[in-house]
Amino acid sequence: MTLHIDGHDDRVVATLNRPEKRNAIDQETIDALHALCAELEEKPRTLILAGAGGVFAAGADIAQLRERTAADARRGINALAFIRIRELPMPVIAAIDGYALGGGAELAYAADIRIGTPALRIGNPETGLGIIAAAGATWRLPEIVGEARAAHLLLTGRTLDADEALAWGLVSAIHPADELLREAHAIADRIAANDPLATQYTKRALHAPRAGHPAIELALQAELFESPAKHERMTDFLERRARA
Ligand code: COA
Repeated sequence: MTLHIDGHDDRVVATLNRPEKRNAIDQETIDALHALCAELEEKPRTLILAGAGGVFAAGADIAQLRERTAADARRGINALAFIRIRELPMPVIAAIDGYALGGGAELAYAADIRIGTPALRIGNPETGLGIIAAAGATWRLPEIVGEARAAHLLLTGRTLDADEALAWGLVSAIHPADELLREAHAIADRIAANDPLATQYTKRALHAPRAGHPAIELALQAELFESPAKHERMTDFLERRARA
C-alpha cells in the first residue's frame, strides 16, 4: 500500500508509504489520494499528511514522469489530485520530515497548515529535469511566501532547509522528528474543539477569490448566525461567566 490510512472519528492520518523510493508519488499513490478525498468529501474530517521513513516525498515518480506524454501532462494527474486535497472541506495539515521535493513539495503546498522537522528540505527542482512545477507550485507558492521568494525558489530550483523554510513562512513551526506527529495531532485537537461547520466555512472564506469578499463571508456567517451550535456555544460562554 503506497498510502497508509489511519482513520479516526475527527481526523485521518495518511502516510505516504514508499520509503524505498523516498515516497515518490506514483499513479497508485494518486489513485489512493483520490479515494481518500472521496471519503473526506463524504464525511469531512481533518487530514494529516505525513511520509514514512524520515521523508515526506521526494517528488513525483520520475520513472513514470519520464514516460508521460503531452496528453498526460494535459490531464494534470498530480495537479488535480492536489487541488482536490486543497479543497477538502476540513483543514489539511502537512507534517513534513526530511525531503519534500517537486511534487512532494506541491502536495505540502496544498495543505492549509505545514509543520516540519530540522531535517526538512523543501523545494522544486523541476527545471533541472526539463519540466515545470505544474502541480500547484506556480500559484500556491506565491500565495504562501510571496511572489519574489516563489520566483527565487522556482527559477533556481533551490532547496530550503528547515530554518529558511520557517523564516520564509513556508512552515509555521519546526519540531523534533519524534514529536512531529504528536504536534500535528495537537493541531487537529485544537481544530476538533471548535465548531466543525465554522471551521469549514472559515476555510471556504480563506479560499474565496478576492472579488468574492465580503459577500462570501456574509453569506456563510448568515447561515452560522442561525445555527444551533452558535447559540449553544455562546450561551455556554455567557453562563460560565455568570457562574464564575
Ligand atoms: N522518483 C522516482 N524514484 C525516486 C525519486 C523520485 N522522485 N526519488 C528517489 N527515488 C528512488 C531512487 O531512484 C532510488 O531508487 P533505487 O534504490 O531503486 O535506485 C531510491 O528512491 C532511493 O533514492 P536515493 O537517491 O538513493 O536516496 P538518497 O536518500 O540518497 O537521496 C533524494 C534522496 C531525495 C535527495 C534523491 O533521491 C533525489 O534527489 N530524488 C529526486 C528528487 C527530485 O528531483 N524530485 C523532483 C521530481 S518532480
